[in-house]
Amino acid sequence: DCPSSVKKQLATVFEVSLRTTVPDEPDVVPSVDACAAKSGVKFADYQCNNAMGIFAKIKGKQSGFRGPPAVGQAIVKNLPQSEMIESCSVAGPGFVNIVLSKKWIAERLERLLIDGIDKWAPRLPVKTVMVDFSSPNIAKEMHVGHLRSTIIGDTLARMLEFTHVETLIRRNHLGDWGTQFGMLIAHLFDTFPNPDDFNEAAIGDLQAFYKASKVRFDNEPEFKLRAQLSVVRLQSGEEKYRKAWERICDISKAEFEKVYQRLGVRLEAMGESYFNDLIPPTLDKLDKLGLIQEDDGARVIFVEGVNIPIIAVKRDGGYNYSSTDIASLWYRLNVEKLEWNIYVTDVGQWQHFDMLFKAFRHAGWLPKDENEFPKCTHVGFGLVLGEDGKRFRSRSSDTIRLVELLDEAKKRCKASLLERDAVKDWSEEEIEKTAEAVGYGAVKYADLRINRLTNYTFSFDQMLNDKGNTAVYLQYAHARICSIMRKSGKDIEELKQNGKIVLDHEDERALGLHLIQFPEVFEESLTNLLPNVLCEYLYNLTEIFTKKFYTNCQVVGSPEETSRLLLCEATVTVMRQCFYLLGIVPVYRL
Ligand code: ARG
Repeated sequence: DCPSSVKKQLATVFEVSLRTTVPDEPDVVPSVDACAAKSGVKFADYQCNNAMGIFAKIKGKQSGFRGPPAVGQAIVKNLPQSEMIESCSVAGPGFVNIVLSKKWIAERLERLLIDGIDKWAPRLPVKTVMVDFSSPNIAKEMHVGHLRSTIIGDTLARMLEFTHVETLIRRNHLGDWGTQFGMLIAHLFDTFPNPDDFNEAAIGDLQAFYKASKVRFDNEPEFKLRAQLSVVRLQSGEEKYRKAWERICDISKAEFEKVYQRLGVRLEAMGESYFNDLIPPTLDKLDKLGLIQEDDGARVIFVEGVNIPIIAVKRDGGYNYSSTDIASLWYRLNVEKLEWNIYVTDVGQWQHFDMLFKAFRHAGWLPKDENEFPKCTHVGFGLVLGEDGKRFRSRSSDTIRLVELLDEAKKRCKASLLERDAVKDWSEEEIEKTAEAVGYGAVKYADLRINRLTNYTFSFDQMLNDKGNTAVYLQYAHARICSIMRKSGKDIEELKQNGKIVLDHEDERALGLHLIQFPEVFEESLTNLLPNVLCEYLYNLTEIFTKKFYTNCQVVGSPEETSRLLLCEATVTVMRQCFYLLGIVPVYRL
């Protein structure tokens, strides 16, 4: 529910008219949409396009309407009195063009400045939501795919938080279990006979350590045997093995933490290991329901419409990624009682989740209707490509350390900051903080601004360009508005209480209209779990401010100064909310 959505409020008004216009067609739902911000000449702010559909429906009946435009006329005539609407007219084949009242727009903005943007948040029909995101694997690399999951997942979590869901869990489903620990532990014992010696400093690069152990596993039969035995001893809970496992996890997590700290991302870890003991009883339940069958020595679950099964127990009796997800989803639904479970991974895992959710539906553990709560949603994303169009890799090795990647973004931002005269009087700390905000923000925005389902090309040059559709450009615009307001020397808080907003200039009006559309765009972005919708809105807002409003409407020193300063304040309020939702830290001068 989104009471602040202009679109929905208009639909409510049109609904009244439709009931009078075609009383015999109670099923017709009002269809009102915003006219695109960018489409050159605009005759209207919103458009209602019910007339054509209605006419097609009632054509044969004795309706008295000669055509869709006549239906449109009647819809306009039957509209109830509304403060929102300035005027309506029928165009073309029967579109009802709606022009909003600029006084109404202005009042809504004045309210925003007094009440805060929180009042614009929609409400969700659920209380408990979990976003399972980031979820890297211990000792293996945390790769750019995990970076995408972290960035997209964090934004979705922030968006959900904004709607005030009662419980929001940001879950790190760490890959902290599995056969890889056998070889890691065996290699660890060989390298450091004294367990007190293995710490981060000694092991250094855990990924390299992982690779070294893998080489031995593949080439030394004796080592392989010991590795396999180590898994068994770890799983049976032997102290020494347990300790070694914990140590390895701690070292890995410390490395992940460096990435999260830079990105300002919080996560609650509950790794795969946590669910290990829950696997047998959960599979038992599925077995009793008759869902598990024998297939070539393995225990599998077939689901509707998919010709490969979920492998619940491998031929060697071991468990895998799917077994763990079965147990953890059971736990999430029955112990944590989560109403909405959102999983953020690359699209490659689509089928894994599709089968998992289907199996749960078969078992009656999820409602048959996939839109009903409790609900599970897989949020997929495409690959990260390098500028050569191939999978993103560093030149030197086949992996990329995410910490280094982020540091590089910051370093480049700092270098270009230091080239500017404006920073001469900045403190070292301000320069650092600004470089971080702009650099990390740029990495995030470059990822978020494109539809997550498409592959995305990682390019520092592109994302750090201050002219294109980048976070750098947005940060500049934000800082410029802050500077305009500072230069005015006015007390904005006082203006908010007593000043009025007037939208007489067409560019003031265009800016105001775009601002009050934030709630409906946010709602669209959240409904489809597509952050790029919000990015596009933010970019358009910045463009309207810079290219229209600020180019054609003098702010400081003009007769309209108060109103225009308030418009600036409304603009930064909405911009900062967008930044916040996208996990970008705004900068106030640049
Ligand atoms: N660790 C997995 C990977 O790196 C992602 C886990 C996603 N979450 C889940 N519940 N399966 O691909």
